[in-house]
Order: sequence, then structure tokens, then C-alpha cells
Amino acid sequence: MEDWSHCLDVAVQIALRAGQVVQSAVKQEKQVSSKSTPTDLVTEADHQVEELIISTLREKYPSHGFIGEESSAAGVTCELTDDPTWIIDPIDGTCNFVHSFPMVAVSIGFAVRKEKISAPQLELGVIYHCFDGTLYTARKGHGAFCNGVRLQVSKEKDVSKALILTEIGAKRDPATLDIFLGNMKKLLSAPTHGVRIIGSSTLALCHIASGAAEAYYQYGLHCWDIAAAAVIIREAGGYVIDTTGGPLDLMSRRVVAAGTRQIADYVVKQLQPINYGRDDLT
Ligand code: IPD
Repeated sequence: MEDWSHCLDVAVQIALRAGQVVQSAVKQEKQVSSKSTPTDLVTEADHQVEELIISTLREKYPSHGFIGEESSAAGVTCELTDDPTWIIDPIDGTCNFVHSFPMVAVSIGFAVRKEKISAPQLELGVIYHCFDGTLYTARKGHGAFCNGVRLQVSKEKDVSKALILTEIGAKRDPATLDIFLGNMKKLLSAPTHGVRIIGSSTLALCHIASGAAEAYYQYGLHCWDIAAAAVIIREAGGYVIDTTGGPLDLMSRRVVAAGTRQIADYVVKQLQPINYGRDDLT
């Protein structure tokens, strides 16, 4: 079986370089436009950073596949193939980036098909918090780390003592917002300690890995928001599953993550679904 540790080292170096580009871009004037909806933002920096990450990785690993947020928005097919595949969000929290709100990350995941019959599996994840320099890393079977210190999820099983994180997603039509607010109301009235929205799915998921919050749920995120974080959470001892309670489907644009199965199951039971389609069908 191939040892992918060299890929983790490479991903870390690239994430740090990309983070430097984001740090300097945040101080400059931004050219902002929108993609799928008026609230789904993209900037010149998103394109520049994705180009930097993919071209550097492609030079090193010419046979690998690539899924990137901005390439997908530009029409490149979003699918996991037989090739080892990098899954990249160049700037997660683009709206935060536009406002210089300090929750912005570079996310690099990597999936590999280990056996012919099995689906590709998430192998490693690197998430770099561009504002405070926190670096989250994990490789399957080798633990998850924050700036080199081992991560451990919260072991809380009692939902009334849980802090829950979510993100809004790009759809803002009244029917979607009603379901979104209804889901949040159920989780607030459990009662839980609270619900937080920070504007970056990847960083919110890192907070599950570090034990700072007990659960995360969202409809409307993408495979590049989940890929790296899923490895980090699982290696920190947590669960990353589908909103139905079944196994995670990376392309399904929905997720529940939690430190314990009990809290994950509780969250799953509260949720009314919001249909965002699939990443591999657009
Ligand atoms: C988005 C952010 C946002 C979440 C969206 C993500 P982007 O990523 O994480 O908080 O609600 O679902 O797609 O567009 O900033 O990379």
C-alpha cells in the first residue's frame, strides 16, 4: 500500500504559501462577483489562490486528479475518479474575506481509491486559518493535529450541554430560510447551549475536531468544504456522516459532524432537509 505522507508534507507547504497570498490580498481592494446566487461570492484572489495550489500540485503529481471550487464553478467536471484526487477550497469564507472578517481558510483534501472495488477514500486533510495562522492537519490512521498538537473531539453525549455550529448556505428564498430557521429553532430549543455561525464551513468543522463545539450540520456546502475537515474530525475521534444518519456522501452537499455518535444521531433526528442538488451532477 502506498505511503501518502509525502503528499501531506506537500499540502502543508502549499497551504502555507496560499495562506500568505490570502493574507496580503485581504489588505487590498477586492474585485467581487457572484456565482450561483447573489450571496455566493467569488473574488480575483479565489481564482489566483486556486491556480497557485493546483499548478503547484500538478507539477509535482501530474497523474493526479483535481477538484477545485473555482474550476468547478467554471464548468470543470466535479468527480472522484480512479486517480488520487486533490479537493481544494482556495478561500473558504469568501464572504468573510470580502469583509475582512477574520474567519478565512485554505482547505486541501486528498482522496485515494485503495482497492478496485471500493469508493475513493479521504486520506488526508490540511486546513490553514489565514488570519491567525492556525494549521490543522491529518492523515488517515495517523491522528489529527493543530499546530502540531494532537486534536481530540468533545466526548459530550448530552445534547443539552452541546454547542452546535452550522452555516447558512447560499440560498435565501423564503422556503429555504423557513426550513433553515426551523432546523435551528429545534436545535436551540432542545435546549442546547447555543448555535453559532462563523461564515466558514471548514473552520467550523475544525472546531468540532478540536472539541470547541459538539456538532456541526449544514445543507448547501460542497465537497471542497468537507473533504479535508472530514479526515481531521475522524482522526480526532469524531463522526462525519450524512444528514440521514447514513455514511457521508462527499458529493451530496450536506453533512452532520459530531464528537459523539449520540449527539450526531440527535442532530440527524431534528433536521428537515434542504435540497441543494449534488456536486457531481452540476
Ligand atoms: C462557503 C462558506 C460558507 C458556507 C458555504 C460554503 P466559500 O464556502 O464556508 O460559510 O455557508 O456553504 O460553500 O464559498 O466561502 O468557499
